[in-house]
Amino acid sequence: MKKSSARPWILIAASLVLSAAMYAQFSIIPQPQSIVTGSGVFTLTGNSVIIASGAGLKAARYCTAMIARNTGIRMVITNDGSPDAGVILFQITNGSAFGAEGYSLAVDERVIRIAAATEAGLFYGAQTFGMLLPSDAVHQRSAQGAVNIPGCRIIDSPRMPWRGLMVDAARHFFTVDELKQFIRVMALHKLNMLHLHLTDDEAWRIEIKKYPLLVKKGAWRSSIGFGFPADASTAYGADGKYGGYYSASDIKDLVAFAAEHCVTIIPEIDIPAHSRAALAAYPSLSCKSRDGLWCPGNEATYAMLTNVLAEVVDMFPSKYVHIGGDEIGRPQWWLCPSCKRHVLEARRMRDDDNLQRYFHWRIGRYLVSRGRIPLGWDEIADGDISVPAAVMGWRSAEHGYRAAQNGHDVILTPQEYCYFDYYQSPYGEPKANGDVLSLKTVYGFDPVPWLLESIGPRILGVSGNLWSEYIPNYRHLEYMAFPRAIALAEVGWSVKRDWDDFQRRLAVHRIRLDVIGVNYRR
Ligand code: ACM
Ligand code: ZN
Repeated sequence: MKKSSARPWILIAASLVLSAAMYAQFSIIPQPQSIVTGSGVFTLTGNSVIIASGAGLKAARYCTAMIARNTGIRMVITNDGSPDAGVILFQITNGSAFGAEGYSLAVDERVIRIAAATEAGLFYGAQTFGMLLPSDAVHQRSAQGAVNIPGCRIIDSPRMPWRGLMVDAARHFFTVDELKQFIRVMALHKLNMLHLHLTDDEAWRIEIKKYPLLVKKGAWRSSIGFGFPADASTAYGADGKYGGYYSASDIKDLVAFAAEHCVTIIPEIDIPAHSRAALAAYPSLSCKSRDGLWCPGNEATYAMLTNVLAEVVDMFPSKYVHIGGDEIGRPQWWLCPSCKRHVLEARRMRDDDNLQRYFHWRIGRYLVSRGRIPLGWDEIADGDISVPAAVMGWRSAEHGYRAAQNGHDVILTPQEYCYFDYYQSPYGEPKANGDVLSLKTVYGFDPVPWLLESIGPRILGVSGNLWSEYIPNYRHLEYMAFPRAIALAEVGWSVKRDWDDFQRRLAVHRIRLDVIGVNYRR
């Protein structure tokens, strides 16, 4: 072999520059665990095929649709091809270290190989593969028959299992088709939990067969409210009332669509407070101590709510069912004859906290009996509710950490980092709730600071909340969600984070959002 003549440091420096330049061509969001650049290039053409079967089919179907949308190239899926030249191969590998959602993705001149232990892992491999498509091809959607994919080897898995968003469908209504588009955008960012806030003071949005008045009365109001003009939304019934609701078949459709995108839907029935809409329909169950509150001293309350939850459990396969529990305040329970006689005196309770915990325990134990895990806002962890329950820390991250220290599994959704109903900037933004929450602040959220590493395993993940008082339609929902939810997706997925590099990748990523028509804030 010819000895390298001179100045090897020039070669080393040149190759470092080259690999840095090549690295910069990857604009994957959320940032994968590791990317090693390769030397070859895979050329995707109309003759390339996808090989997949069984658990690989979901990712393969997604991949063909995405390639067609982004490049115009139409590929076929086959299960009997050989992993030869010109193929994208989806492979389930048993007993690997990928975990429940991890994957590897290797691109060389001949084959693109995506491997994972699960369907979800392959799906996320397909999402990452989509972000290897050159953005100019995606932008022009004119691949002219061929697209070059840079050689690389990516190994990836999420930092946290719960990467979610909450949509408040109560204050304003979003249709099934709108929620499907939202799920598509979530899946692109490897977000996997859609929490639907289905009930509140202003509306009840889920049909419960046993209690038809909940939607008949509770899903409609005379006007859109919150100061919006009537044409801020198209959600009007034939009689001109504002609103809408999801039927059992809507939910079935939505749950199946979400599953196809590796998204779990978590239903929330917010009780005992935030319940004016339901109690206007069933006023006999209202507590005399406070308006809009289910009476925890009335046995009929538990009968109705467990019947409601029975139907909810039948509709949603999720392990977790959210039962709210926020902002109950300090009702004067003694002023309610039922609370006084049937609980406070009968159970020799002193007062408020105990009665509140009693309510959560009664409801929580029903869900446990149905094999589900009750999930609530962090107030439910203010005292011991004597059933295993998971907690969403919203009042502050600190409230979440305290719940974790008390033995609860916790999803962090603190106002200071996760309230996407807040203003995106102090200047020139449409009317919003509360304070200002910038993209950079969201990106800077460290869900498990090193001082709290001991409770790390209890922190399931993060979720962003889109309370919809000031979100009257779907386009505005996207505007408030993105790009902040993309920053949160990286908080939940990526161990290595870098704000400058995120901004660079986001600049490329905007093209992908444009292609699927996302109304993100620019
Ligand atoms: C909440 O923001 N009331 C959970
Ligand atoms: Zn009462």
